[in-house]
Amino acid sequence: MSYKTASMKVLSLVLIFGILYPETITLAFSHGQSGVACKAIERKALLQFKKGLTDPSGRLSSWVGEECCKWRGVRCNNRTGSVSKLKLNNPYPESSDKLGGEINTSLLHLKDLVYLDLSMNDFLGVQIPDFFGSLEKLRYLNLSGASFAGTIPQSLRNLSNLLSIDLNNPDLNQTYESDLRWLSGLSSLKYLNLGVVDLSKAAAYWLQTVNMLHSLVELHLPNCGLLQLPQNLPSLNFTSLSVLDLSNNGFNSTIPHWLFNISSLVNLDLNSNNLQGDLPEEFASLNSLQQLDLSENSYLGGRLPRNLGKLCNLQTLKLSMNSITGEITELINVLSECTNSSLMSLELGYNKLTGNLPISLGYLNNLRYLNLRYNSFQGSIPPSIGNLSSLEELYLSGNQMNGMPESLGQLSALKVLDLSENLWEGVITQAHFMNLSSLTDLSFYKPSPNISLVFNINSDWIAPFKLRYINIRSGQLGPKFPTWLRNQSELNTVVLNNARISDTIPDWFLHLDLKLQELDVAYNKLSGKVPNSISFLYPSTVDLSSNYFEGHLPLWSSNVTKLYLRDNVFSGPIPSNFGEAMPFLMDLDISWNSLNGSIPLSVGNLKELFTLVISHNHLSGKIPHQFWSNMPFLNILDMSDNDLFGSIPKSIGSLSYVKYLILSNNILYGELPPSLQNCTSMDSLDLGDNNLSGNLPAWIGDSMPSLSILSLRSNFFSGNIPSQICSLSTLHILDLSHNNLSGFIPPCVGNLSGMKVKPSVTQQYQGSLEVVTKGRVYEYDSTLYLVNSIDLSKNNLSGEMPTELTRLIHLGTLNLSWNHLTGKIPLQIGNLEQLETLDLSKNKLSGAIPPSMTSLTFLNHLNLSYNNLSGEIPSANQFQTLIDPSIYEGNLALCGHPLPKECQGSDKTGTNPGGDGEVKDDEDEDGGKFDKLWLFTSMGLVSLSGSGEFVAL
Ligand SMILES: *[C@@H]1O[C@H](CO)[C@@H](O)[C@H](O)[C@H]1NC(C)=O
Ligand SMILES: *[C@@H]1O[C@H](CO)[C@@H](O)[C@H](O)[C@H]1NC(C)=O
Ligand SMILES: *[C@@H]1O[C@H](CO)[C@@H](O)[C@H](O)[C@H]1NC(C)=O
Ligand SMILES: *[C@@H]1O[C@H](CO)[C@@H](O)[C@H](O)[C@H]1NC(C)=O
Ligand SMILES: *[C@@H]1O[C@H](CO)[C@@H](O)[C@H](O)[C@H]1NC(C)=O
Repeated sequence: MSYKTASMKVLSLVLIFGILYPETITLAFSHGQSGVACKAIERKALLQFKKGLTDPSGRLSSWVGEECCKWRGVRCNNRTGSVSKLKLNNPYPESSDKLGGEINTSLLHLKDLVYLDLSMNDFLGVQIPDFFGSLEKLRYLNLSGASFAGTIPQSLRNLSNLLSIDLNNPDLNQTYESDLRWLSGLSSLKYLNLGVVDLSKAAAYWLQTVNMLHSLVELHLPNCGLLQLPQNLPSLNFTSLSVLDLSNNGFNSTIPHWLFNISSLVNLDLNSNNLQGDLPEEFASLNSLQQLDLSENSYLGGRLPRNLGKLCNLQTLKLSMNSITGEITELINVLSECTNSSLMSLELGYNKLTGNLPISLGYLNNLRYLNLRYNSFQGSIPPSIGNLSSLEELYLSGNQMNGMPESLGQLSALKVLDLSENLWEGVITQAHFMNLSSLTDLSFYKPSPNISLVFNINSDWIAPFKLRYINIRSGQLGPKFPTWLRNQSELNTVVLNNARISDTIPDWFLHLDLKLQELDVAYNKLSGKVPNSISFLYPSTVDLSSNYFEGHLPLWSSNVTKLYLRDNVFSGPIPSNFGEAMPFLMDLDISWNSLNGSIPLSVGNLKELFTLVISHNHLSGKIPHQFWSNMPFLNILDMSDNDLFGSIPKSIGSLSYVKYLILSNNILYGELPPSLQNCTSMDSLDLGDNNLSGNLPAWIGDSMPSLSILSLRSNFFSGNIPSQICSLSTLHILDLSHNNLSGFIPPCVGNLSGMKVKPSVTQQYQGSLEVVTKGRVYEYDSTLYLVNSIDLSKNNLSGEMPTELTRLIHLGTLNLSWNHLTGKIPLQIGNLEQLETLDLSKNKLSGAIPPSMTSLTFLNHLNLSYNNLSGEIPSANQFQTLIDPSIYEGNLALCGHPLPKECQGSDKTGTNPGGDGEVKDDEDEDGGKFDKLWLFTSMGLVSLSGSGEFVAL
C-alpha cells in the first residue's frame, strides 16, 4: 500500500548521492583517447596497482596490452596523454563483485590524476592511505561505501584543488577534536559528504571548520553523531551553499538564525534531530528555497511562523514529526496569496496542530501531496478542497475531523484518500466519489467500534475508479454487500470490517477473480457458505471472524498465512488435509464454532505456526502426540472448551517457546507430564476444569520463572500446596480452587511479589481463561489482567490464614471459601487496600471481623458466611454498602446491621478491641476515600443489573 510506506527518508538518501559533481566535474574531462598513446610509466603504475587489488569478478580483466587509456575505468587527458581519471567504483553495490586488497602507492606515478572513484568496493576496514594526500591534482575523490575505517589522514589537507570529496563510510571516525583540520586545506571544495562518519568527537568545531570552505555548494553531514548546532556564527562564509543536509544528528537546540542568512539555500534537511522551540521568523528570507524539510525533529516545537508563507518559490515544505503547535490558517492564507503558488507538497504530519482547515487550502492549486495526519484538526474539510485539481494524495488520518464535503468527489487526480481515525459523521453518497477516477487507495479505518458514518450509495452506481486497496472499518456499508464494488477487479486488499453487512458474499464478488493479499470482513452478519474459489497471494490474511458463516471449514491456497474464522457457525470436522492445504499458516484461530471430530494429524504440517486457537468447539478424541516437536515457533496454544479426552501428551513439553498453554474445560486426566518443565517461556498455564490428578508438581516454581497466570482449578489435584510455588515472582493469578488440596496454606505466599505490584498489561493474548471473581465467572479480558487474584476455594485446606497473606498489598481477589481454615482473620487484613473481592465463607474462622477491614475501600464483594465469627459487624466506610445479610449468615455469634440480631453491650466491646492502630480511616479526614466508596457502590449496582443474580458461594 503506497500510502502506508511513507518514504520520509528517500530525500536524504538521494542527497547523499548528490548530483552536483557530474555537471561541475565531468565536463572538465575529455573522453577522447585517440591520437595520444598511453605513457609507459603510467601503464606500469596501473599494472602494479592492479596487482595489489583483489578482483573476484575480473572487473580489471581489460587491463592488458599497451593502450592503457582504453582500459576499463581509465581515462586519459586528450592533450597530455596522461591518465586523468580512474573510475573504479562498483556499479552494483548489492553485488559481491567488489575490489579489495591493497592500494599500491604506484598511483603516485599518475601525475595528472584528477579523478579517483573507488566507491562501493570493500577494502575491509583499512585506513584511507596517507599517500592520497600527495595526489595533488585531484579534483574529485569518492571513497564512499568502500569499507574504509579508522581516522581520516591529515595529509588530505594538501588536496587544495579538490572540488568534491565523498567519504561516506560508517567505520570512519575522528578521534580528537582537532581531527577535522585536514578540511581547512580544501579551499576549492564545492561538494563535501562525510555522511555516517562518526564526528561526535569533533564537537563544536565542525561548523567552524566547514565555514572556512567558502566555495561549498553542497554539505552533507547526515548521521555523523553531531550534537551541537552552534547558535552563533560571526562570519558566514557559505555564500554559495545550496544543499545542506544535517539530518539524523543529535541537535537538541533551537534552529539557529544564521541558517536563514544562507540565502542561496535550496534544500535544507534537518530531519531526525532533536531540534526544539519555535520556528524563527527568518524562514521568510529563504527566497530561493524550493524545498524545506524539517521533519522528524520530534522536539521541534512552537507555532508556525507567519513568514513561512512568504516563500512563493517553495515547492516542498516538510515539517513532519515535530512538536509544532497552533493553527495553520495563517500559513495557508499567506501561501495562497502568492500569485501562482508553486507549492506541490505540504507535509505537516505528526505535530500538535489544531483548529479547522482553512478555506484558502483550496487556492494552493499546484498541490499534489497533502499530509496532515496525526494532528488535532477539527471540523469539516473545507468545500474548497474540490479545487485542488492536481491533488494526488490526501492524508487526514488521525485527527478529530467530522464533516466531509461532496466536493471531495471532484478530485479527479486523487489516487490516495486516507480519512482514517477521525470522528466523521453523517452520510457519504456517490457524490463524494463522483469523479475520483484515479483513486486506487481508499481508507476509512476507525479504531472504535462505534459507527457514526453511513455510506448511502445507490445500488446501481458504477464507480469511476479501480481500487487496489479499500479499508473501511466501523462505517456502515450494509445491510447489503456494497454493490459499487462490482467493477473493482483490481482489488488487492479488501477490508469491510464492522460494516453492518447482513448478506451473503455475492457471486459477482467471486467473479471479479481477485488476487487478494487481505480479506477482512469480520464483525458483520455475513452468512452462507464461504467460497473456496478466492485466490490469495503470498503472504495473505483472511479474517472472517464474528459472522454467521456456516458449512465446513474452507480450504484456501497455501498462500494464506493468517486465518481467523473465530465466532461463526462452521461445523463438521476439521478437514483431514487441512495442514497440507495451508502449510504456511502462522496464525490460525477457528475458535467459537461448532467443529467436531478429532484433531487431524495434518495439523502437524503447520510448521510455521505461531498461534493455534481451536477453543470453544466440540472437538473430541485425544490430543495428538505426534507433531508438537514440529512446531518450533508455537507461542499460543489454546484448545480449551472442547471434549478432548485422555492425558496431556508428553510431547507438548517440546514446545519450548510456548507462552500460553490453555487446555481448560476438556476431559483430560492423569498427571501433569514432567516434560512441561521444558516450557520455560510459559506465561499462562491454564489446565482448569479437567480431571487431572496427582500432586501439584514442585517444579512449576523453578522451571516457569515468567509465569503470570496459573490455573489448575476444578481438577482432582491432591496433596499439599508446594512451597516452591512461592518463587513464581511474576504470578498475578493463582487459581487452585475446586481440587482436593490439603494441608495448610504455605506462609511463603507472602513472597509472591507479583501480587504486591499493579499487574502490567504486557500480555498480547486474551484468550478464554476464566477467572472467578465477584461471585461469578467472567470471561477474562484485558481489564482482568489488571487484577491480582488468589483462589484456593473448595479444597481441604486447614490451619490458619497465614498473616503473610496481608503482605500482598496489590491483591484484588482473595477466595479461600469452602476449606477448613481455623483461627482468626489476620488483624492486618486491612493492608490489602486493593481488595475488591474477599470470600472466606464456609470455613471455621473465629473471632471478630477485624476493624482494619473498614479500610478496604474497594471491597465490593464480601462473603463471610458460615464461619464461627463473633461480635459486631463493622459499619464504617464500605461496610455501609455491604448490606446483604446472607454474606454474614451462619455465624451464630455475629450481630449488628444488616443481621436481624442486635448486639448486646459485650458484643460491641468484642468487636472493637481498640487501639490496635489498624484503623486508618478517620472519617473526619477522609473525604477522598469516601468518594471512592460511592464510586464503587454505583459500579456494584451496574454489575448487579448486568449480570442478573448475585451468586453467593
Ligand atoms: C579534448 O578535450 C577537450 C576538453 O578538455 C574537448 O573540448 C575536446 O573536444 C577534446 N578533444 C578530442 C579530440 O576529443
Ligand atoms: C575509530 O575507528 C577504528 C576502526 O574502526 C576503531 O578501532 C576505533 O575504536 C574508532 N575510534 C573511535 C574513537 O571511535
Ligand atoms: C570567512 O571568510 C573570510 C573572508 O574570506 C575570512 O577572513 C574568514 O577567516 C573566514 N572565516 C572562517 C571561519 O574561515
Ligand atoms: C541537549 O543535550 C545535552 C547533551 O546531551 C544536554 O546537556 C542538554 O541539556 C540538552 N538540551 C536540551 C535543551 O535538551
Ligand atoms: C501464491 O502467491 C504467488 C505470489 O505471491 C502467486 O504467484 C501464486 O499464483 C499464488 N498461488 C496461488 C495458488 O494462488
